[in-house]
Amino acid sequence: MVKVGQIGMGFMGRTHFGIYEKLPNARVVAFADQDSKRRAGAWADPIGNMPADWPAQVDMTDRKSYASLDEMLADPEIDLVDITLPTYLHAEAVIKALKAGKHVLSEKPMGLNAAECKKVLDAYKKAKTNYMVAQCIRFWPQYVAIKDMITTKKFGKLRSLALKRLANPPMYSSGNWLMDAKKSGGALLDLHVHDIDYANFLLGKPKAIYAKGTTGPSKGIDHIEALWDYGQNLIVSIEGGWCFQNAWSFEMAVLARCDKATIKWVMSEGNDIKVITDDGVKMYDAFGKEKVAGQQAAPVPTGWQEEIKYYVNKINSRKKGKEKICSPESTALSIALADAEVKSVTSGKIVTVK
Ligand SMILES: NC(=O)c1ccc[n+]([C@@H]2O[C@H](COP(=O)([O-])OP(=O)(O)OC[C@H]3O[C@@H](n4cnc5c(N)ncnc54)[C@H](O)[C@@H]3O)[C@@H](O)[C@H]2O)c1
Repeated sequence: MVKVGQIGMGFMGRTHFGIYEKLPNARVVAFADQDSKRRAGAWADPIGNMPADWPAQVDMTDRKSYASLDEMLADPEIDLVDITLPTYLHAEAVIKALKAGKHVLSEKPMGLNAAECKKVLDAYKKAKTNYMVAQCIRFWPQYVAIKDMITTKKFGKLRSLALKRLANPPMYSSGNWLMDAKKSGGALLDLHVHDIDYANFLLGKPKAIYAKGTTGPSKGIDHIEALWDYGQNLIVSIEGGWCFQNAWSFEMAVLARCDKATIKWVMSEGNDIKVITDDGVKMYDAFGKEKVAGQQAAPVPTGWQEEIKYYVNKINSRKKGKEKICSPESTALSIALADAEVKSVTSGKIVTVK
């Protein structure tokens, strides 16, 4: 049984809690938050797109409340510290938790820039415990299935990949930290980073990046379109932003044109993946299996559920071992690639990736 201490009981903290509650091998034993109601499990305040049936008061029997990370880290009962603090606090909190000998799961992004990530990596290398950044798209069923189709060349070689993540401005965060680019990194680091990380996970480091961005409500880069050059007959374009109008519905999408077929998944069109060939369109389920007529749709977990289940199982197996799906080194590279995009936007030049 992994005993979890969570810090940052806002939108993502509550989302993580709901997932731990359904796992047989994890138990959340403590909440920490600067807000006394939030750390006491009094969650009547509506935030983000939390389910309407969310309990206004969490059962706190056998659960502790801490006002700070330092207090929680002194608790010997806690094995795993789950960090869902605002982004500008991630690096410092991860370093402290690793130094305290805890296993760590931290929300994305790993840090605000590559320099912060380097400090975190240094602390991780010295630690005897596990650390993973919750880059949930690496675990999101449709993205996992599409990665498998591409890497196995099921439909031939990949020729173009377009990733999109488009939203309206999230205005729910505590003290509105998301709308302060110095704290959140703007849409580039908060939203678009998911697709930077997926492209890195799927294809690795490009040779060069060209990106164009516009500012928005956070005063940072809030809409960006980037072209990643792999030096071969392949186009990779990644678009993300949160400048859309209020009536806009969140959208994420993948369009991968391979030699023999185009793979398309658009969230607003449902769970199934479309595979389009010269002969027609075939439907694949969220897990990448070709659908047969009359087949009942299986429930599709979110990437958040999958990543937490995976990580808890890993901690329970008591291995430090090399992380294969979401290593700290790889997530740090994603932030270096985000830095390269920022450099390209601000300079107007193509940036060579070292
Ligand atoms: N993976 C995803 O899809 C996804 C989605 C949303 C948010 N996130 C990430 O999760 C993180 C948290 O975002 P959120 O939307 O939950 O924000 P939020 O504002 O809803 O929650 C942050 C919580 O941290 C608490 N807090 C702030 N400073 C603190 C401090 N010094 N000590 C203790 N508590 C403190 C606040 O009181 C609040 O309860 C961000 O890094 C964000 O990028 C990830």
